[in-house]
Amino acid sequence: MTDHVSIARHDNGVVLVRMNRLDKKNALTGDMYDRMRGVIENAPAEGTRAVVFAGGPGVFTSGNDIADFMARSSGGDGASPAFRFIKALATVEVPMIAAIDGLAIGVGTTMVLHMDLAYASPRAQFRMPFVDLGLVPEAASSLLLPQLAGFKKASEYLMLADGFGAREAVEMGMINAEVPEAELEAKALDAAARLAAKPPQALAHTRRLIRGGAEALRRRMDEEGVLFGQQLMSDEARKAFAAFMTRK
Ligand code: COA
Repeated sequence: MTDHVSIARHDNGVVLVRMNRLDKKNALTGDMYDRMRGVIENAPAEGTRAVVFAGGPGVFTSGNDIADFMARSSGGDGASPAFRFIKALATVEVPMIAAIDGLAIGVGTTMVLHMDLAYASPRAQFRMPFVDLGLVPEAASSLLLPQLAGFKKASEYLMLADGFGAREAVEMGMINAEVPEAELEAKALDAAARLAAKPPQALAHTRRLIRGGAEALRRRMDEEGVLFGQQLMSDEARKAFAAFMTRK
């Protein structure tokens, strides 16, 4: 166990989950995924009413740790901590809110698609460079992004791998609002506190109705997962990972 994810439990049932591996721009390791999944999966048992995900100053997360990708000796992705985390995002019942300040790359962007509410600072940078890394989209982003942004924009983000900022994210409906850095976490925590104070059953029913069934998301994640696992072992991915690790 590392302390790369800190978990702060508030009296009102709100839990603040902070990614905290700043020397690596919050690149996510298996242990970090497992810790974050634990919070959302155990929410009912632990009396958690809302979860806020945050990072550090200027860094939400730079996505999956590329050294971890390289260390994988098989493409079988179904049981990886990353895959289990993103599946949990689609299936857990606890409301989730993201406060994104700065870099949000790969899963740093795709996890936001599953949040109930999201706020980002003016310096937020969203980017999904899966194809550039020889990989394919994950977290059902290949389904959710076209729904949200339209087919052409989804192609720009997932095929050209162009980045975008908070304003564009607001325009497409991926986040609720652009909020100055200094107010960002307070805004997310306030929204979480408001949700935590609502009648729980009415809120849970409403959340389920808004989101619809998770079956289509699960199916798409499985489909993506098979291709992701194959690509992870491909020459094109191995070359891209090596290029990143040796770029300096
Ligand atoms: N996996 C592993 N290590 C990562 C990482 C990642 N996703 N993102 C950053 N790091 C590490 C860097 O290797 C570097 O480590 P070092 O100091 O031991 O060399 C450290 O974090 C700082 O990153 P650096 O690249 O020096 O900072 P930067 O400000 O110049 O650039 C990024 C930041 C995020 C733009 C750049 O690191 C990057 O492109 N990372 C990869 C993002 C990515 O492709 N993620 C996977 C998506 S599927």
